[in-house]
Amino acid sequence: MIEVRHVSKEFVSPKKYPGLKGAIKGLFSTEKVVKKAVEDISFTIQDGEIVGYIGSNGAGKSTTIKMMTGIMRPTSGECIVNGINPSAQRKKNAQEIGVVFGQRTQLWWDLPLSESFTILKEIYNVSDKDYTERMKFLNQVLQLDDFFDRPVRTLSLGQRMRADLGAALLHNPRVLYLDEPTIGLDLVVKDNIRAAIKEINEKYQTTVILTTHDIGDIEELCSRIIIIDEGKKIYDGSLEELKDTYGTRRTVSMEIKSPKEIVELDLPGKLGVTEQTCKVAFDEERKVLSVSFDKHKVQVPQVLGAVMELTEVSDIQIQETQLAEIVKEIYNHGLNQADS
Ligand SMILES: Nc1ncnc2c1ncn2[C@@H]1O[C@H](COP(=O)(O)OP(=O)(O)OP(=O)(O)O)[C@@H](O)[C@H]1O
Ligand SMILES: [Mg+2]
Repeated sequence: MIEVRHVSKEFVSPKKYPGLKGAIKGLFSTEKVVKKAVEDISFTIQDGEIVGYIGSNGAGKSTTIKMMTGIMRPTSGECIVNGINPSAQRKKNAQEIGVVFGQRTQLWWDLPLSESFTILKEIYNVSDKDYTERMKFLNQVLQLDDFFDRPVRTLSLGQRMRADLGAALLHNPRVLYLDEPTIGLDLVVKDNIRAAIKEINEKYQTTVILTTHDIGDIEELCSRIIIIDEGKKIYDGSLEELKDTYGTRRTVSMEIKSPKEIVELDLPGKLGVTEQTCKVAFDEERKVLSVSFDKHKVQVPQVLGAVMELTEVSDIQIQETQLAEIVKEIYNHGLNQADS
């Protein structure tokens, strides 16, 4: 179990002044700027969960992960991972966790991948028997054999990411931290990585904490997400709940046979709702009428009924709000406005 309790992280750096004069002034100045990267964040993660930790650039995701892994010490508050305080008991903690930072490799750049694994085997005290068994499994899910003898620097990004993931899992950690594990990967490799994470989680009940900007990762892997914004936690719950609460808009697109009559259509008026609740747009070229509305206030049959009274409809499409749009809206405007 992972417990994050009222964790904050402040970065203090010397104040910078513009220009050359400023640079000299800066040398003698004692003024400091304090950046609150993470502010009073608390949550608990149970064994075997896969949790998506998301937020816009600079929100404080990597900083939180660094504190949870013990790379960084919180300014205040504490993290407890399986009973261990990661930054105080770094060695003990290292045996229990695996970490992948998608932005840079943890492997030895000039060594063949196989040697990196041999070194990690020693570092983590993995027995010969466990090593053989583990490598067999990792090869199955990550196909490391394809490039096991090559120096890490010659690997493609996708191969390197598979290698990094394998290396993080060699000692069968109970917790796996992944900071943007699919960044820059093509769709096929992304799928492979996601499948591997799923399989590891199912087979070993490995707890996974994942940061990503790829909504696909979240939809494929995470039943729970935590959203942070400017260092503060703004959402913690299931994906369904988020979609239910904030994805309340629905769009019906109708292909109209003879669009002449559309000008007369006062849909919001007919349905007795505001123009904000029911937005109507007409694409003259494609002859497609799109009606976007709040699904709690207007029903699809009402919309169709009103339109079909006026004109013939030859094709219909109904769309739910995509998760990507909900998240974009939350990043832009915060949680309260996301449903308006
Ligand atoms: N070592 C540091 N010194 C000073 N400021 C830092 C340091 N590390 C991070 N920050 C600042 O803290 C804030 C949070 O950074 P963090 O890397 O945690 O964001 P993030 O959510 O991971 O963003 P991204 O999606 O871009 O990776 C940013 O404003 C960043 O500039
Ligand atoms: Mg980051």
